[in-house]
Amino acid sequence: MRDTGNRRDLEDGIKRDFSKDMSYGDYLRLDLLLSAQQPQSDPPQHDELLFIVQHQTSELWLKLMVHELRSARDLLRGDDLAPALKRLARVKHIQHTLTDQWSVLATLTPSEYAQIRPFLATSSGFQSAQYREVEFLLGNKNADMVKVFAHDPAAHDELGTLLGEPSLYDEFLAFLARRGYAVPPALLERDWSQPYRLDPALVTVFAEVYASPAEHWGVYETCEELVDVEDAFQQWRFRHLQVVQRTIGHKTGTGGSSGVDFLRRALDLTFFPELYEVRTQIPQ
Ligand code: HEM
Repeated sequence: MRDTGNRRDLEDGIKRDFSKDMSYGDYLRLDLLLSAQQPQSDPPQHDELLFIVQHQTSELWLKLMVHELRSARDLLRGDDLAPALKRLARVKHIQHTLTDQWSVLATLTPSEYAQIRPFLATSSGFQSAQYREVEFLLGNKNADMVKVFAHDPAAHDELGTLLGEPSLYDEFLAFLARRGYAVPPALLERDWSQPYRLDPALVTVFAEVYASPAEHWGVYETCEELVDVEDAFQQWRFRHLQVVQRTIGHKTGTGGSSGVDFLRRALDLTFFPELYEVRTQIPQ
């Protein structure tokens, strides 16, 4: 091995003067990003930075998820299936990253959380506008959720608009109808702001797809991608529930809910009910 003195010399071509040119920090606005961690605890609690960074990184990934899901939905509306699937593949990786990162917050003990809890006051992830945008884009519509953002006109408008628009699944069903699949007409002209409800006639449509995958490959593949996304979403919900339970037990949440019991009920929500129901119908 060459003896370098355990030091790497900088190559001549490496730029060092950024007095007039754009640097890494300039491009990424790290001045803004890295000054946005403002612990509230007094006296300062060591673990509050973890709590803030975990939430802020989640919000950054949610921002990218919203971007990708909106694009996937719009591509489906334009019958552009292949790039829509590419978007969903990326969404799945973001979801896995979000789920994996729970292990960092799980190092926060109940006693450590208790030191921070008073400074969180009434703030809660329940008030995450981007999380609701993701849910609305996937089809979990709930008009009551929009009211939570009355104090924030931009988020309120954004969510109100998404509430009244077709979700990713709604656009997938419209795409299927344009391709000649017997999607019930009521599903193509419904009030988009209402929660999506299972339609048995649509299960029959998917049963045909799953009976002959080769004949319906693009549709079949999209169905499985959507199931992957819902599966990954449920895994995030479940990990959140577990971390909450080990941190606060059955105490009420900072957002005012019953806590674990309230979160557990979210596991009964489904984005794509027919894609799960069809599994029961596939002949053995
Ligand atoms: C120890 C850390 C955490 C605790 C104890 C906790 C606790 C809770 C509780 C009790 C709720 C129910 C609403 C309430 O009453 O506040 C909730 C909701 C929520 N939290 Fe957390 N949370 C933690 C970390 C996080 C993190 C890191 C995120 C990432 C963004 C997050 C996102 C959410 C979301 C999106 C909801 C709404 C879920 C739904 O509506 O089903 N939470 N959290």
